[in-house]
Amino acid sequence: MLRVKVPLADRSYEVVVGNGAISELDALLASTARRVAVVTQAGIPLEVSLADREVETYVIGDGEAAKSLATIETLTRGFARQGLTRRDVVVGVGGGMVTDVAGFAAASWHRGTPVVHVSTTLLGMVDAAIGGKTGVNLPEGKNLVGAFWQPSGVICDLDALASLPERETRCGLGEMSKYHFLTGDDLLALPLDQRIARCVEIKADVVASDEREGGRRALLNYGHTLAHAIEIATDHDIAHGEAVAIGLVFAAELAAELGRIDEARVDEHRRVVAGEYGLRITPPERLEVDELVALMARDKKALDGLTFVLDGDDGVEVVDDVPETAVRATLQRFVAHGVRHNE
Ligand code: GLY
Repeated sequence: MLRVKVPLADRSYEVVVGNGAISELDALLASTARRVAVVTQAGIPLEVSLADREVETYVIGDGEAAKSLATIETLTRGFARQGLTRRDVVVGVGGGMVTDVAGFAAASWHRGTPVVHVSTTLLGMVDAAIGGKTGVNLPEGKNLVGAFWQPSGVICDLDALASLPERETRCGLGEMSKYHFLTGDDLLALPLDQRIARCVEIKADVVASDEREGGRRALLNYGHTLAHAIEIATDHDIAHGEAVAIGLVFAAELAAELGRIDEARVDEHRRVVAGEYGLRITPPERLEVDELVALMARDKKALDGLTFVLDGDDGVEVVDDVPETAVRATLQRFVAHGVRHNE
């Protein structure tokens, strides 16, 4: 079993990575936690079994529509009936949607109840379950209501990945390829458990230095500015990790347009994302430049104007006030190569 620490002073925690890691769940729970509220979804390949604790299981719906305040109300009313206290624990078992919702329910319940995540998807293991971002959507946008609430432990049980649908694997690989550009690490050279643990370590380092995204944590959004716009413009036909893969290459092309990197470095982005990670980097057809620019300007990470995370001489960094003309010129060329994406 591999163990990675997320070092956050008195809120530090351990991420356990390996096959059968769920067997370590009990050890991550406080001894005071008599009641356990397991938040999960139908079809999740791992089950929690905790002798000597009162376990209540809450099955939430699938999809972005269930990532809602209504789900938080249902969960917390269940917690009330269960008699869950702040000495007890919420356990989120599932992908990023489940751990985001379980984390926010825990953050809100009694103004903060411990939560432990058991991540069952590649994307969750390398990103969503780590770092304490929790939240739900509003009709007005994704993740608009939430809290920073660190888990007190995370389990990444690789057994769950055996049945992971191919598309979900691609989404995890999209986020993983991002880490390649943040560190230059050849992650694919590592066996899967070490690769996941290394991604966790990279993220833990960034989160430890900027837990609430005042600065450096925004680097984790490399490739995400266009990705979020593509997700919305395609009504989520392109899933998050797939859109990140496309967004990484766009960010490289934009950096080249701004003279921050050369063509060879853009080619490296294409080679790594498409060649090594096997991900699609051509945008879906029929994207409109005007719509994408409007969506990117609305991105909640952008305080004013167009903000991107861009590569350059000093590595990847946050760049505010990117000229719209450069964004439009790059996008125009980019969307001209749009192709049909099936499923
Ligand atoms: N997914 C980006 C972050 O956790 O900051």
